[in-house]
Amino acid sequence: MASGPIANVDLELIESAKRKAAFKAVEDHFDSSFSYVGIGSGSTIRYGVEAIAAHLKANPPAKGHNIMFVPTGYQSNELVRRARLLPLPFDSLPDDVMLDVAFDGADEVDEELNCIKGGGACLFQEKLVAMRSKKFVCIADYRKNQKRLLTAWPSIPIEVAPFAEYEVLRALRLLGSPDPVTRLNADSKAGPLKTDQGFFIVDAPFPQLLTDGDEAAGTDGSGKNGIYSVERLARKIKMIIGVLEVGLFFGENGYEAQSKGKQGGQKPV
Ligand code: 5RP
Repeated sequence: MASGPIANVDLELIESAKRKAAFKAVEDHFDSSFSYVGIGSGSTIRYGVEAIAAHLKANPPAKGHNIMFVPTGYQSNELVRRARLLPLPFDSLPDDVMLDVAFDGADEVDEELNCIKGGGACLFQEKLVAMRSKKFVCIADYRKNQKRLLTAWPSIPIEVAPFAEYEVLRALRLLGSPDPVTRLNADSKAGPLKTDQGFFIVDAPFPQLLTDGDEAAGTDGSGKNGIYSVERLARKIKMIIGVLEVGLFFGENGYEAQSKGKQGGQKPV
């Protein structure tokens, strides 16, 4: 049985892996000439912001050039402000602007760079920002790298309108999720956790999700026994009335151009 000191060593190892991944991601994908940069949420992105601040100290932008940092929620906005970077709310972005890059974390990443996100309940704004970015760089340490999604991470986070909570839970069960649950606050007596939009998060377990590779090999990912391909399940969940967004990141969010087109993206390290 692991005792305190061993657990601390594990913790140190994990934090060091997150930091290493974040500094590598920023070294490879950030440039002081950028104008708009997305900043995700979670514990790993803290190191991403630290790495960006260090990069800017060593390589300041040209005189008069400002980089605007677009946060993905309250925590992310705080990170940007505390690092003395300039925040720009997503809904203040000029229409014709794409972000140069967005950095974010993930809960699990498969070998085709599909991700589960939303462990920190910020998936809606994270997806908005990822969609508006020329490049989405996902910073993930060794624990999150799996052949298929739902291997170590148990469920898919889904943001849901509170009034539709029971209807969404019912629809998810019909899709084959054995026991979807509404996420509670850390103090469960305070009731369901609320997102930055005032919505709920439902965590829906499913069997492992198939990749395009599995499908190409002839495996049926159409939902028999709750077994889907990533894209098919994401689309089915998104169709449920009351679902704002689903924490499966793939193709349609612009991320596809980076990962599947092999033009960029960040392999988990
Ligand atoms: C928040 C997210 C986070 O990026 C994800 O949960 C990873 O968090 P961490 O870096 O703390 O492991 O999607 O909604």
